[in-house]
Amino acid sequence: MRTSKAAVSAATPDMQALYAYMMTQQPVRSETPANTMRFPFNLRPMMAGWNTLFLNRETYKPDPQKTAEWNRGNYLVNGLGHCAACHSPRNALGAEKLGEAFLAGGTVDGWEAPALNGLSKAPKPWTEDDLFTYLRTGFSQRHGVAAGPMAAVVHELSTVPEADVRAMAVYLASLGSEVGGDAVEAPAATPAPVSSANGERIFNGACQACHSDGEGPTLFGVSPSMAVNSNVHSDSPDNLARVILHGIQNPATRDLGYMPAFRDSLSDRQIADLMAYLRGRFAPDKAAWTDVANAVTRARANPGTH
Ligand code: HEC
Ligand code: HEC
Repeated sequence: MRTSKAAVSAATPDMQALYAYMMTQQPVRSETPANTMRFPFNLRPMMAGWNTLFLNRETYKPDPQKTAEWNRGNYLVNGLGHCAACHSPRNALGAEKLGEAFLAGGTVDGWEAPALNGLSKAPKPWTEDDLFTYLRTGFSQRHGVAAGPMAAVVHELSTVPEADVRAMAVYLASLGSEVGGDAVEAPAATPAPVSSANGERIFNGACQACHSDGEGPTLFGVSPSMAVNSNVHSDSPDNLARVILHGIQNPATRDLGYMPAFRDSLSDRQIADLMAYLRGRFAPDKAAWTDVANAVTRARANPGTH
């Protein structure tokens, strides 16, 4: 490592001390590691072409028709927040889709990142207050918890100025209503129309104590309701399978509590029965999932990093 005299004299006292230390060290030879990026990422000209097509270098231009708070939220969600990195589907070249597909839901590390626009499957519409509480604390009474890759996002958001989280909520709430949103109130949990007596037995024995829908005590942490959970209402059974198998070991914030993992106490078959029961009982307006067994196998084989 060489350090020019000019650089040393221009540096702060701390840096000068560091340079002085470095200059007492013997130089070592080392080979620059070979580029192990996969095609086409190993070809710089290809990446330049991708950037020309998809990289947006424009700075944010506020929309004068909207409030300063909305503009701040738009800037944070789409700039610093990188929310679309997980919540927007990607095209065949790996770029985030825009237009109607923007924030329409994506996948990350085996998790579904649900739609945040009018395509949201949430049984109760996301209001500004719901979004604020969810993003700030990791839990919304009318929706549920932020687990998986979203837990880390909320962990960060719990430390930024409250006004910034509020601005994001204002902006996101406007996306739902602009495209119509899902304005119907969630149907109350109805007695199971499905015949999955096995799933019901498992729910009553293994889950209900902590998920009593407000009818029982909260043992510790929160008691998320199955009836309002987007994962139970989604087209994809994957998030539900992951949560049951692997539990929630890294809560978004301390107060949420932990959800135990059931991978060692329930078989794939039992989990599939349980999921079919949860879908039928708590999302009775949605079609039964057709590939529950595969979702369980997938989630068991690939625990992911969350
Ligand atoms: C690393 C990927 C990732 C990033 C980045 C991310 N999310 Fe998420 N988000 C997820 C996943 C996965 C879920 C589902 C979590 C669950 O079901 O417990 C989720 C859930 C949500 C939900 C709940 C949706 C519902 O209907 O239940 C909201 C709201 C949300 N995210 C907002 C945001 C916002 C705002 C940002 C940017 C600040 C963001 N997310 C960034 C992955 C991500
Ligand atoms: C000991 C208490 C406990 C038991 C037993 C329990 N859970 Fe949970 N569960 C929790 C807690 C606490 C959370 C929220 C944890 C967090 O986010 O940090 C949670 C979260 C969830 C979520 C929301 C995940 C999300 O990302 O939206 C689902 C779905 C869920 N549990 C299903 C189940 C099912 C099904 C069973 C039975 C097989 C079960 N739970 C058993 C405590 C429990």
